[in-house]
Amino acid sequence: MQKSSSALLGNAATFLKPYKKQILIAAVALVFTAGLTLGLVQYVRVIVDKGFVEGSTESLNMAILGFLVVAALQAIGTFARFYWVSWLGERVTADIRKAVYAHIIELHPGYFEDNLSGEIQSRITTDTTLIQSVIGSSASIALRNLLMMVGGTVFLFVTNPKLTSVVMICIPLVIGPILYFGRKVRRLSRSSQDEIANVGAYVGESIQQIKTVQAYNHQRYDDQQFSNHVETAFKVALSRIKMRSFLITIVTTLVFGALAIMIWVGGQDVINGSMSAGELTAFVAYAVIVAAAVGAISQVISELQRAAGAMERLMELLEATNEITAPEKPRQLDGKFEGLLQVSALKFCYPSRPDTPALDNVTLTIKPGESVALVGPSGAGKSTLFDMVLRFYDPQVGSLSLDGIDIRELDPQELRSHIAIVSQQPTMFTGNVWENIRYGRPEASDEEVRAAAEAAYASEFIDKLPQGYDSYLGESGIRLSGGQKQRIAIARAILKDPEILLLDEATSALDAESERKVQLALEKLMANRTSLVIAHRLATVMNVDRIAVLDAGQLIAQGSHQQLLQECALYAKLASLQFAEPRAAETALESSK
Ligand SMILES: Nc1ncnc2c1ncn2[C@@H]1O[C@H](COP(=O)(O)OP(=O)(O)OP(=O)(O)O)[C@@H](O)[C@H]1O
Ligand SMILES: [Mg+2]
Repeated sequence: MQKSSSALLGNAATFLKPYKKQILIAAVALVFTAGLTLGLVQYVRVIVDKGFVEGSTESLNMAILGFLVVAALQAIGTFARFYWVSWLGERVTADIRKAVYAHIIELHPGYFEDNLSGEIQSRITTDTTLIQSVIGSSASIALRNLLMMVGGTVFLFVTNPKLTSVVMICIPLVIGPILYFGRKVRRLSRSSQDEIANVGAYVGESIQQIKTVQAYNHQRYDDQQFSNHVETAFKVALSRIKMRSFLITIVTTLVFGALAIMIWVGGQDVINGSMSAGELTAFVAYAVIVAAAVGAISQVISELQRAAGAMERLMELLEATNEITAPEKPRQLDGKFEGLLQVSALKFCYPSRPDTPALDNVTLTIKPGESVALVGPSGAGKSTLFDMVLRFYDPQVGSLSLDGIDIRELDPQELRSHIAIVSQQPTMFTGNVWENIRYGRPEASDEEVRAAAEAAYASEFIDKLPQGYDSYLGESGIRLSGGQKQRIAIARAILKDPEILLLDEATSALDAESERKVQLALEKLMANRTSLVIAHRLATVMNVDRIAVLDAGQLIAQGSHQQLLQECALYAKLASLQFAEPRAAETALESSK
């Protein structure tokens, strides 16, 4: 499904659309300044012929005056051109950044299993920066010189058609290499940026996991790997630079060669009197302008090609299709949402493991307000079922429904607004306690946040933090203990006050005493709320309405604790291991006395 580069770049052009007015101003300024520069040469011609050759002071004065006026206008035009072209560059880059971020933040989570976060980050930051600098300066240079080249050639013709034919023969000789090497540079530039993205991804992961890296003395290895990435990036950059150097050298040589031929032919004409000195001066001036323009274009064209490569990568991100989207006419849950959650004949395989179902033929109904515990061995598919309820993935077979409405018929945003989850690894975000608890309800008042923290038994430790609720938690909440993070995550869910509650080992990181307290708070929260609770410690799920046992993706039994002890061998085994052990330990202790 790879789109061709030109199609991708065509899409990029849509980012210019809203700025027609600014483009017009920039274009006028461009044409204006180019025209003035070319016009200026006409004054040079008069200055040489009238002033120097004929010795007329009056004509010389007039010509100089005109020259000064044109130069002043030129200054104004240059300001407008530079300002507006740079403005466009910055504006478009900002829009692209925003569009790419807004797009990827909505993408289905499965997308990020294949695409590394570091790589995506690098695209949004380094690629856009490249585009920014290129559009801001190189594009302006390229456009200006393109105009100078075309305009200069026209004036050459007007000044002396015979000499111009010499120029015409040289042009294809110069344009050829520009196009050939330019394309090569673009391809190389893409892989160069790709390599830089790899480097970025590597740094990101190892720094985030710095303690594990150092605990396992992995620095030397990481260092080596990182060096390899950097060296590859360097090699790619080198071949790009080589191409560019070739391009510049060839073009400059050809241009100066052509100039030499022209001055030689023109000089003969001045000597034998068929051309004035002013004419030749003007002609050479135009030729120099054209030559300089071609040279400048050949230099920036590789910059432009680099930007095109970066643009391609960004457009690819923008084109990534979201697999989890709202239907065209999403159904509404309205105010009378009850919270009936039904899972019917659900089968789901993760995209990376299409042959091993993580959930297989699971059917489960949770009545409004009912609390159900999900138990089962590690890897049974419990967390996966939560992901399905939140519609992070769509099932291959079967369905999930809320109040009888298939969740695929709802806007995911609406669906998720009724659910709060405390996930297995509680996630904190850079920011303070307020921001982290308010995550699901940014408009909540300070009192509400405090009440939620109180209910989650988080306030006791928050009050002891150096700045209380204003304490900054560090990246991913690195300044908190596991159990503290968990309590903040619970406070966040309490504050959101949803109809459906998903708790994935919400109390696993707490000590026995806090766990008992938080458990009480959670039970209060679960009352009259549709709740699904995952817990490895069966003692924490004794008070739920029903227990469902998952094993290897299948729902093998459900019922009360007592029922399951009788009917489900797996459950009985789990229970005997957990409830027998303390007694076994006690006996062991007794006998050792
Ligand atoms: N993103 C993923 N891609 C592929 N397979 C996955 C992915 N996430 C989980 N799995 C697999 O799906 C199965 C179910 O995983 P899941 O996380 O639902 O287990 P769980 O019951 O929550 O286990 P635990 O009690 O250890 O948390 C496992 O075999 C796991 O390896
Ligand atoms: Mg899990």
